[in-house]
This record gives sequence, C-alpha cells and structure tokens, in this order.
Amino acid sequence: MAEILREGNVWHLRNEWISYALCEMPGGVLAHLYAGPRLEKLNPASLMRRAGIQMEGFSIQELALDRLPREYPSFGLGDMREGALTVVAPDGTRAVDLRLEDARVLPEKPALEGLPATRGEGCAAVQFALRDAHTGLEVQLNYAIYDDCPAVVRSARLINRGDAPMTVERAYSLCLDVPDADWDLVTLSGSWARERSIRRRALVQGFQGISSQRGASSLQASPFMALARRGADEACGEVIGMALIYSGNFIAQAEVDHNGGARLLLGINDRDFTWRLDPGESFQTPEAAMVLSSEGLGGMSRGFHALWEKHLLPARWVNRDRPVLLNSWEASYFDFDENKLAGIAQAAADAGVSLFVMDDGWFGHRDDDTTSLGDWQPDRNKLPSGLKALGDRVRAMGLQFGIWMEPEMVSPDSDLFCAHPDWCQHIPGREHITARHQLILDLSRADVREFVYQSVADTLHESGASYLKWDMNRNFSNIGSAALPADRQGEVPHRYILGLYEVMDKLTADFPDVLFEGCASGGGRFDAGMLYYVPQFWCSDDTDALCRCEIQYGTTLVFPPSTMGCHVSAVPNHQTMRTVPLQTRFAVALGGCFGYELDPRALTDDERRTLREQTAFAERTQALRLYGAFYRLASPFEGNETAWMSVSQDKNEAIFTFVRDRAMPNTLPPLTKLRGLDAAKRYKIVETGEVYGGDELMNVGLCCPIPVYGSGDAWAALYTLKAVDEA
Ligand code: GLA
Repeated sequence: MAEILREGNVWHLRNEWISYALCEMPGGVLAHLYAGPRLEKLNPASLMRRAGIQMEGFSIQELALDRLPREYPSFGLGDMREGALTVVAPDGTRAVDLRLEDARVLPEKPALEGLPATRGEGCAAVQFALRDAHTGLEVQLNYAIYDDCPAVVRSARLINRGDAPMTVERAYSLCLDVPDADWDLVTLSGSWARERSIRRRALVQGFQGISSQRGASSLQASPFMALARRGADEACGEVIGMALIYSGNFIAQAEVDHNGGARLLLGINDRDFTWRLDPGESFQTPEAAMVLSSEGLGGMSRGFHALWEKHLLPARWVNRDRPVLLNSWEASYFDFDENKLAGIAQAAADAGVSLFVMDDGWFGHRDDDTTSLGDWQPDRNKLPSGLKALGDRVRAMGLQFGIWMEPEMVSPDSDLFCAHPDWCQHIPGREHITARHQLILDLSRADVREFVYQSVADTLHESGASYLKWDMNRNFSNIGSAALPADRQGEVPHRYILGLYEVMDKLTADFPDVLFEGCASGGGRFDAGMLYYVPQFWCSDDTDALCRCEIQYGTTLVFPPSTMGCHVSAVPNHQTMRTVPLQTRFAVALGGCFGYELDPRALTDDERRTLREQTAFAERTQALRLYGAFYRLASPFEGNETAWMSVSQDKNEAIFTFVRDRAMPNTLPPLTKLRGLDAAKRYKIVETGEVYGGDELMNVGLCCPIPVYGSGDAWAALYTLKAVDEA
C-alpha cells in the first residue's frame, strides 16, 4: 500500500518498491531529499548530508539556494541553475520566493483541470501549498504515489492570489535534483519514419536534453527522459524514468552543475509560451510521472507499462481484445472507389481480418494531399452511395468498419477555408505557411472545437464506424489566434492542446464503443497525453520490419505493446524498398496491435493461406502479447539482433520474438537469455516440442536454430512457451 508519512519537517511518500522524500527548510523553503528504492526508515540527517542540505543556520541569504536541491526552484533568488518557474510580477520583476504555507494529505488525488492525468484510484496523495508573499502567487504542488507500481506523479497549479495580473513565462511540471552526476541520460529521439531511437550518453557539466516546439510532442523527440546509472542495463541497476502526460511542446533537460549534482526538468517548453494570470485565475501544469527502478531499464519500462495500463489508458480498452485490422493506405493510397475497397475488404475478411479501415482520400475531392481537409463529406465520385452504404457492405462481410480523419486540419483548397478563413492558426497580414499543403485549425477557439467535434461525430454516426484513425500531419508555424488579444498570443500552443483534449474527452465519452487510434505522420504524437484518450497509436509510417524492430523496441521503453499499432505490409516495402520474408514481417508486427497495410488480392494463394494462419495466431496470442510483462532481450541499437518477450502474469505462458538483421555466415547460433520466467518451472516450446527448465532458459539461454548458410537477411523466430508438468 502507498503511504505518506510525516516526521517533523520531513515527508516520506512510500510504497512496496520506492520512497520519495521532501523536507521543509527553516523559513519554509521546500527541498528534495531522496528518490529511489524503498527505505524502511528514513535517516534525514544522512540524506541531508548526501543532498548537500544544511539545516543549521540556513537562510536564503548568501546565495545559499545555489547548492540546495529545491523541489520547485524558481528564478531569481540566487539559485544560478535553470529553474522550474518564471513569473513576471506586476512590478515587472521576475524573482519568485516560494515558502511553504501548508502541507496536507488529501483524501483523494485531485483531477487536473482540462488535462489528462493518471486516475485517482489506489494511491496516496499529498499537496504542498507554497506562496510568494511579495506578489501573492500561490503554487500548489500535488503528488501521488500508487499502490501497485513503482511510480510517483506530480504537477503544479499556479494561482494568482494577488490583485494585479502576472505573466507566467515558465511553469514546468517536475524538477528533480540528484546529488551526483554519475549517470547516463537516456532519451528517445528520431524523425519521420525513424521515431523513438534510444539515445544514451553520459552526463557532463552543462546542459543536455531534448525538446519539441513543433506544436506536438513530435516525431523528433518524446516527452520522456531517464537517468540510468553508469553500467545499468536492461536487467540491473538504478534508473529514474520521467514522462510528461502531455501532447504539445515540451522540454526534458538535465543540467550538471558546478557542485557535481544534476538537475532534471520536465514540462511545457517555455519557448513560445507565456500565460497571463489575472487575479483569481489559476494555471495547471501537465502531470509528470516518475518511475524509479532498481531493475534497470527493463524494470523502468514495466513500471511505466503498469502505471499507464492501470491508471491512464482508457480503462474500457485495457485487457480487451483489439481487432486484427487491415488499413487501406498502402493498399490503394488515394486511388480507390467503393468497389475497389469492397474487393480489398472481402479479401481481408477471407484472410480472417476483423476490421477494415478506409484511410485518407474518401472526402471532398481528395485525389492527393493538396485539397479538401475540413470538407468531411464523402467524395461522390469514389463513394457514390455514401459512407453508410460502404460501411454496410463491409459489415455484411462480417467485418467491422473503420475510417480515417485528420480533424484538426484545413486545406486552403476547401469549402471550410473559404467559409472561415480566420479559423486556422495564422498571423493576420503574414503569408500562410502550409505544410503538406495544409493549415492547422485554431483549436483554442470554442467555435472551431465545436466544428471539429461535430465533423467527427457526424462521420461516426453516418458511417457506423467502430474505429477511427485520428491523424495530425504537420507542425505549427505562424502561431496566432484571431480570437485572442495580443498579450495572450503566447498562450496559443498550450490552449490548442487544451482544446484538443476537450474535443477528445467529449468524443470518447459520447462514443465509448469506438476504438480510436492516434496517428501523427506515424508516431508524431505518441505520448501519455494522447494515450489517455486513445488506447493505441500508429507507431510509424515506416512499416519495414527491420526499421520497425528499432522503432517498436524504442517505444517499449515507455509504452506497452498494447499501445502500438503494428502492421504487416507488402514487399518491396514502400518506405525502404527492402524485401523482408513474410514470417519476419509477421513476427515483428505481432509486437503490438496486429494488422495489415497491404492489398491481400495482390498476394499469392499460398500467402493468403498464411494470412489466415497469422490472423488466427494473432488473435489467440493477444492477451499474452499485449498485456504480458514485457522484456527487451537484444537491442537493434547495439547489434545485429533484436529480441523481446512477453510473459503471462502467472508465468505459465510466454512468447518470444527474435530477428537477425544481416545474415552472417560461419557464426555460432545466437543464444538469447530469456527473462521473467519461473526458474522452477518446465517450459515446452510449442513450435518445436522441446522442453527446457525456466532456469536453463534464463541462465543458459535459448538457441535459435538459424541456418549457418542460406538463412538470408531478416531471419526471424517466433516461439510460444507453455509451462508443462513433464520432466
Ligand atoms: C499520414 C499517416 C498515414 C496515412 C496518411 C494519409 O501520413 O501517418 O498512416 O494515414 O497520413 O494521408
């Protein structure tokens, strides 16, 4: 059980695995004491010594704060490191001196106004109220620690209790000071078709980190960072993981200071951010989640997976089967009509697929990506009988019907743009900057949000779709809103995300049975904010199985397999022109919510038969693959091999995937040590009939029977393991 203990001026948040401690300094400065493995008994004196905290005679004079690990450091009081908070006071100055006024254990975790956050069940919550006497600014720091995972979440709420407006220039969600820099910083970064590559580098004095100012969390950087002890690996060592539950601009930064300590900051990017806070108004930061692991990066990932599955992802979709789908994008792009789609859908149904998704190109006069976003009426040339007729036709084949939309966008070539030229983000008098020939609707406006809600709701009603792929395909530029005054223009990027969340909230509540899958040119908004609304996200536009090994492997650092949309596509692959065997494409796509992105009519009879076996296998193994405990075993970022596995909660079943990238002649067969099994149990490999002890599989390893010659590139093995009684 999670608990919050107080001893004098020290607060100790603790559960079965971890402890997190803070203390009040003389004068009410709130300092950070400890974050790490559970401590039975706190020893404040030694923790303070370790953290460089000196209680005796402490005062903020003599620049004492420059050494102090403050829990929410503000700018301007002599702490020369980067802070978490900058506010311009009514007198134009920026120093903020926050002192603790009140600390309360809360009966329940408060919801965050307008923002997704971990839900309140099964946690202990505490609030610290700090105040700057000079301005009347109050900052409430809210923390919760969960019963069932090694995680602490926190956020800050700023309230103007003064009598004049202030301007918030920076309000991060998290600051964590650690007393040494003997860590590596681990981040996820990349680009389009190369999302979430694992990057690891040693901390050095100065700044390091990642950020997005693209309007979305982005393809290029994920709102996550971890500190891993030098030498910590997948299975062992101390790791502190931090993820922001937010889908917009963010910054994740580590600063190693002159004392040799490191300060971690995570929150909304303050570049292009200001917020006017009138008297009585409040500003809520997004929530940040911290997972503390002593079992390496693997332990951190399982901690995040458990946190999201138990407390963040839409509850009705967790532990529930997801339909094996076929998406029309790579099968036909914009070139289709009702009969062609029906033909593809029938072939999909014959292969055992259960959901057919019509992707882009069905509305307005959209024969390419230059037009029609915003005009969400079916193109009568392609769909002469409308959406319902196609939906009914697909459903008559025994399939569910799903549809693609990009609701946040408008094409300059559209009826919507002609009718409402001021509905897009723009700066009056400046030329529009389009990307993929489109502009972004201004979701900070209530009338635009209503339009977006209504277009999606109408499309769902009309088509009877039980699945919606919600896409978002460009970055922000010319950021501005026609509906906001000059001194609120800096609020547009965050107001946009708040607007998006409001629409998602209403739609997912009004259509509880529709499966929403997120997408942003692939995985460009694959973050914990979106995953509060959509249980799965299209992992990448790159469907090449070898590239997917990296993309999916990196994604699992923070997110569980159940959140990743993963499809088998045609060969040669459309992004890389590489030809990978069907078995390997299958094995890799099983790493997440399984589906296809091809035209099954173009396959051979043999391949179509194989598809039937694949869909049956994918369905049979869903619970294990998507919701089992996940272990990364061999990293494509470090070698020629990729391997991962999932183990059922009772450890009676497991599924193991191995991929070798380049064929290497004259090498010993690869041996992979499995993890997470019961050492005392015997496991049968269903595909080969061999029986091994769990101890042998974990200590010696599993040898893949890879041919010494002639295996070809991109060789894969897929094994299911079942605990058996036989000796
Ligand atoms: C984006 C998505 C793709 C596809 C296209 C359609 O690129 O990531 O999956 O839906 O848009 O235009």
